[in-house]
Amino acid sequence: MQTKTPIYDFVSEYIQNDMSRLHMPGHKGKNVLGCEERDITEIDGADYLLKSEGIIKESETIASSLFDTACTIYSTEGSTLALKTMLRLAMQYSDSSHFRILAARNVHIGFVHACALLDIDVDWLINEELDSLTSCMIIPERLAAFLKQMEEKPDAVYITSPDYVGKMADIRGLAEVCHAHNILLLVDNAHGAYLHFLETSLHPIDLGADLCCDSAHKTLPVLTGGAYLHVSKRMAQTYCDLYENAKKAMSLFASTSPSYLILQSLDLCNTYLSSGFPEQLKNTCIDLTSLKNRLEQLHIRSYLYEPLKLTIDCTSFGMSGTETAAYLRQKHIECEYADNYDLVLMMTPKNDIRDFIRFENAFSALTKKTAFQRDFPVMPKPIKACSIREALLANSITIPTEEAEGCICACPSVSCPPAIPIAVSGEILTKEVLQIMKFYHIQTIDVVRK
Ligand SMILES: Cc1ncc(COP(=O)(O)O)c(C=O)c1O
Repeated sequence: MQTKTPIYDFVSEYIQNDMSRLHMPGHKGKNVLGCEERDITEIDGADYLLKSEGIIKESETIASSLFDTACTIYSTEGSTLALKTMLRLAMQYSDSSHFRILAARNVHIGFVHACALLDIDVDWLINEELDSLTSCMIIPERLAAFLKQMEEKPDAVYITSPDYVGKMADIRGLAEVCHAHNILLLVDNAHGAYLHFLETSLHPIDLGADLCCDSAHKTLPVLTGGAYLHVSKRMAQTYCDLYENAKKAMSLFASTSPSYLILQSLDLCNTYLSSGFPEQLKNTCIDLTSLKNRLEQLHIRSYLYEPLKLTIDCTSFGMSGTETAAYLRQKHIECEYADNYDLVLMMTPKNDIRDFIRFENAFSALTKKTAFQRDFPVMPKPIKACSIREALLANSITIPTEEAEGCICACPSVSCPPAIPIAVSGEILTKEVLQIMKFYHIQTIDVVRK
């Protein structure tokens, strides 16, 4: 069992020594919220996240061995920071003078921001048959066909898996295609930190991804903001200094004051992961499967595309996802995400039996309506007018969506969650795109000033 928690221990000792804190932060360790005592800064011995050589490096090494990676680095600003770091790191190891990436369209907004800051050109992988805003499943054959017809090969492929409704890509197959073309596979695994600890790992790094980011805080007991950037052993066979370069890459985007509360939380999570977590995870997966089966008996359609995410198809009982979320709220249940059709619930071993019972009771008491069909508007092919960077950094104005036809998208309007843009910076806002925005209730949009 892994019991070393160097960051947490350092802070505990600092508290015991009863020091006068003549340094930041301004609360001086005096409790207002209740956690200030543990909130320190880069004092002597506390190491520095962006150039770690001491306790932080030691803790990251423990995380790396738990996730079986070449190296793992912590982020205290979520996967949003980790994915920017991942893109910069991939860029650093590419031979081409202008880094290009091929990305499945359902990217998180942080990806668009990173492309603007790093001036990355993106080719989009779109799946017209299956796409909704949240999902863009790309099968290996489709990736292979797409790469074949590209005149200039990308430097990396970027996939979001699991996506917001839990759908998971065939990472093993996609990695094989990428590696056959000598292309890196980058995965936004924000929703899947726990996947490594299943009986059979489904974690992207174990399935062949070169780099991936995990939001520890989404599925593990870590404070909001705690995340990992993982580098695969395969990538480390080809490239050197990945740990040091990942830190340099992170420094471009990160605050110089990383939260020590979040670092301690990541540190303690290592012990949690190595003390019975796989067993607890297995039990939660079993509980979720039986919950799904009981919903089925109530004629409620639901999916466990991803083992810890229960996605309920609310059309199966004639309600919208948002309507169902409002109903559940009255029953003291807050869900993760809801849209016109679906409702997403995220569970972990930290959910107790009461949560499951409440949920089942709420659905047993639900007055169902007539089921209806889904009618997703088809995602049109994007039409590019200028680069993401040009558009996102241009002068822009905010206008009502219905007046935006023909304009160029500056800063994408996203609802959060899922923070996935419908139109990306630099694209022309066509009638079809605006219809989709209307479908997702987006009222205003930033457009490039003419
Ligand atoms: C797919 C995906 N990627 C990245 C992020 C950003 O993660 P974080 O909130 O940890 O910064 C999110 C956040 O919801 C997400 O859903």
